[in-house]
Amino acid sequence: MNINDVIIRHEKENERREVENLIREAFWNVYRPGCSEHYVIHVLRDDPAFVSELNFVMEKDGRIIGQNMFMKTVIEKDGGGVVDVLTMGPICVTPELKRRGYGKIILDYSLERAAEMGFGAVLFEGNILFYGKSGFTYSSEFGIRYHDLPEGADASFFLCKELRTGYLDGVTGVYQTPQGYYVSDEDVERFDRDFPPKQKLKLPGQLF
Ligand SMILES: CC(C)(COP(=O)(O)OP(=O)(O)OC[C@H]1O[C@@H](n2cnc3c(N)ncnc32)[C@H](O)[C@@H]1OP(=O)(O)O)[C@@H](O)C(=O)NCCC(=O)NCCS
Repeated sequence: MNINDVIIRHEKENERREVENLIREAFWNVYRPGCSEHYVIHVLRDDPAFVSELNFVMEKDGRIIGQNMFMKTVIEKDGGGVVDVLTMGPICVTPELKRRGYGKIILDYSLERAAEMGFGAVLFEGNILFYGKSGFTYSSEFGIRYHDLPEGADASFFLCKELRTGYLDGVTGVYQTPQGYYVSDEDVERFDRDFPPKQKLKLPGQLF
């Protein structure tokens, strides 16, 4: 794989709609009929927890083909107090270039930049088959639980990677998804009307 054919850089303000459209194309009908992720990033960019220094796009032949972004959040420690951590995403690659290694390139690049900034760990919801290749493991192995998940429920979707080895040593507690990720279906619907029409399909394998 030639990794020299892409440039990874910060998203520019005048590219926001292009990036939202990329995200919409990448997530459409994947986890649910339609998707909400293009609206989620639209909202999160203005959130105080958004890390603008880690808002990356990947460019190939003058076109944006991938993106990733991070938010600050916390683990609420058992016994009190919080540990500052990052969460991640949406992350995507344009559908026609999936499974060619581009996702791993932007993921690894953005994780390195996050580590350089001094962040200690990233936790989020994802597929171990992809993120495991970049050093993620199950958060349960660190003793970190997902908020609102009943005890004994499958938490294999909830992943963690330390950016600083030992950052989570001795930490057990509950991870909190930043509030900004919770958007209403009505707001998503309204936002989506400004994009080209796309058919929502109920497909096997969708989560919702
Ligand atoms: C998830 C996503 C960002 C991965 O990017 P990608 O460029 O397709 O992935 P890569 O080619 O870099 O994958 C690297 C390796 O991870 C694994 N992998 C990637 N996606 C996988 C999947 N859906 N299922 C199983 N393994 C996967 C594979 O082992 C792959 O290597 P291989 O193709 O040689 O087998 C991209 O597929 C995407 O945009 N998907 C739709 C949106 C989405 O689901 N985003 C993530 C939400 S958590």
